[in-house]
Amino acid sequence: MSIVSKIYAREILDSRGNPAVEVDVTLDDGTMGRASVPSGASTGAHEVVELRDGDKQRYNGLGVRTALRKIACEIAPHIMGMDPQNQSEIDSILSSLDGTPNLSRLGGNAILGISMAVAHAESSRVGVPLYRQLSNGLSTVLPVPMFNILNGGRHAKNSTDVQEFMVVPAGFETLSQAVQAGVEIYHVLKYLLDKNGLGTNIGDEGGFAPSVNTNREGLDLLLQAIETAGYLPGEQCFIAMDIAATELLTEDGKYSLTRESEILTAHELISLYTEWTDAYPIISIEDGMGEDDWEGWSELTRQLGNRVQLVGDDLFATNPTRIRTGIKKNACTAALIKMNQIGTITKTLEAIRTTKDAGWATVVSHRSGETEDTTIADLAVGTSVGQIKAGAPCRGERTAKYNRLLRIEEGLGNNAEYAGLSVYNSILNYQPTESLTDKT
Ligand code: PGA
Ligand code: ZN
Repeated sequence: MSIVSKIYAREILDSRGNPAVEVDVTLDDGTMGRASVPSGASTGAHEVVELRDGDKQRYNGLGVRTALRKIACEIAPHIMGMDPQNQSEIDSILSSLDGTPNLSRLGGNAILGISMAVAHAESSRVGVPLYRQLSNGLSTVLPVPMFNILNGGRHAKNSTDVQEFMVVPAGFETLSQAVQAGVEIYHVLKYLLDKNGLGTNIGDEGGFAPSVNTNREGLDLLLQAIETAGYLPGEQCFIAMDIAATELLTEDGKYSLTRESEILTAHELISLYTEWTDAYPIISIEDGMGEDDWEGWSELTRQLGNRVQLVGDDLFATNPTRIRTGIKKNACTAALIKMNQIGTITKTLEAIRTTKDAGWATVVSHRSGETEDTTIADLAVGTSVGQIKAGAPCRGERTAKYNRLLRIEEGLGNNAEYAGLSVYNSILNYQPTESLTDKT
C-alpha cells in the first residue's frame, strides 16, 4: 500500500492558448501521476462548472489561480494520506468537499485534475498502463476513431452551421489501418479545398474550416475526399456529424441554419437529417437536437434511430442521472462521454456503465480546448467503449491521443482487437420496412 503524499497544481495552457489546470499527485513511494483538464467552447448548460478567475487583468479573466488555491487550501489536506487504490472513495470525498451538485464551489476543473492525477499515480505505482488499470482485468477493445476533419459552428467562424463533419474509418481490421485511412482522407480534403479555392485554414479541433455555402457542401466534400483517397464510402469509411444543435436554437425553440438561410422546427430539422442520411453514408449524428428538447430527441430517435447512431452530448453532459432519463424517454441510442462535463473518474465510469447497460453505444471524447493529456485514449480502451472522438489528425494536442492509441495497439500486440464495424452492427444490418420508410 502507498499513500498520497503531495498534491501540486499549476496553471498551464490549453490548445486555444487559455489557462488550464494541471495537477501532480505524488505518492510516498516517490511515484507521480500528472493530468491536465481540457475545456469546451460549445459547453452544455448541464455540465459541471469550470472555475475561472474572472480577473480581466490576467488572461482576459480566464486564469485558473482560484482553482489552484482551492486545490492547495481546501482539497489537498483532505486527500493527502489516502490510498490511491481507493479512487471511488477519493472521488466521493472530492464531490462532498465541494458540496454543490455542479461542483461550482471548488470547480470541476480543480476536482477532475486531482481525480485524474490520482488514477495516473496509481497506475504508475502498480506499473501497469492506465488503460489496463481501468479495464479491471477484462480484455480490451481499441476504439473506432472519429476524425473531425471539417470544423464549423463555435469551433470555426465563417464555416458551416454544423460543428463537426467526421470521417469514421470503421471498416478495417486494425486501428493503425483506420488511422492511416483517416489521415490520408484528411490530406486529400486539404487538396480538394485548395483546388476549389475554399481555403485550408483549420478550426479549433484541427479540421479544415472552409467558407462553404451550405452544410450539404460539407457532406459532399467529405464523400469526395473518401473516394479520392481510394476508400469505399459506406463500407470502409463513413461520415459522422456533430450538429451541436443547442448552438442553433432560437428564442422560440426553433433551429437557425444560417448557411441554408432557414429557421426550422425540430420536425423540419429531422426531415433534413433524414434527407442527408438518405444521400450520404452517415453513421452517426451527435446533438441533433437541443440540450433540453427531449421531445425533439424522441422524435429523432423514432425516425432515424434504426439507421443512424444518435449521440447525446450536451443533452446528457456525461451525467448518469440525465442518461437514465434519456434511456426512459428513448431519447437517443448513444452517449458521449467527456470527463470534464461530470468532474470525476468515478462518475465518468458510472456514466459509461449506465450507457452500456442500456444497450446503447458510447463515445469517449476530447474537448475543443485540449492539452497534451492523453487520458481519454486510455479511458476509451480500458472501458472498451468502441469509439473515440479526438479531432483531426492534426495539431499536437489531437495527435497526442491518436499516438497514444497507436502505442497501446503496439503494446497489446497479438491481443489488439479493433472495434471496427461491430460497433455499428445494428445500423448496418438495418432493413427498412414500409412503415419506417414512410416519412409522413
Ligand atoms: P466542445 O465541443 O468541447 O467545444 O464542447 C466538442 C463537442 O461538442 O463534442
Ligand atoms: Zn458535441
